[in-house]
Amino acid sequence: MITKSQLKKVEEFAEKEYSDLNWMHVCGIRKIAKIISEKENADSSIVDLAVLFHDIAKKDFKREIYHHIEGSKVAEKFLSEIGVGNATIGKVCHCVISHSTPLEYFKEKARKLNLPKSFLPEPKTIEAKVLFDSDMLQQLSPYGITKSLYMNYTTYNFGFVEGFKKTGNTLVNDACKALFTKTAREMAKERIAFLKKFFGWLERCD
Ligand SMILES: [Fe+2]
Ligand SMILES: [Fe+2]
Repeated sequence: MITKSQLKKVEEFAEKEYSDLNWMHVCGIRKIAKIISEKENADSSIVDLAVLFHDIAKKDFKREIYHHIEGSKVAEKFLSEIGVGNATIGKVCHCVISHSTPLEYFKEKARKLNLPKSFLPEPKTIEAKVLFDSDMLQQLSPYGITKSLYMNYTTYNFGFVEGFKKTGNTLVNDACKALFTKTAREMAKERIAFLKKFFGWLERCD
């Protein structure tokens, strides 16, 4: 359980810690996660805390591969400092540590670094599955698409056309291929159909 004032402290802390780019991502996920939590009977207060912390350690993209582990440490420390109980902290930390499995990009990076399979644990609880699915779905929103294009061009240096194609491929084929909840799979259908049209258009233009 978490009180209103504890949640407020987490929100204020999180907003300060995130870049505005990632804070928008978090705000979008909170809305999606609320819908999925309700339909999937997940504990929405655990999911909401997990959403707020899940990318909090995503500051240096060179250490991005470790952000699920570092993020769960930040969550554990902050939540215990504001007096949240151990059971809640454990549930939130499981969500955070198991949220970054899906993208091939992460798997490939982990393989190159010789990291064990256990480095990217799968979500086990319904709350962790809701965070995972909401995180992926948010990437298929207009803001998520724009963010991906921006990151591929600036941070990852793919070049404009390559970055555009990579965004399309990741979002259409990769991001939502392994969703855990029925609700998220339903929500993804409309978004993927739109993305296929949008990125398919690229093939018809010069
Ligand atoms: Fe993440
Ligand atoms: Fe995320």
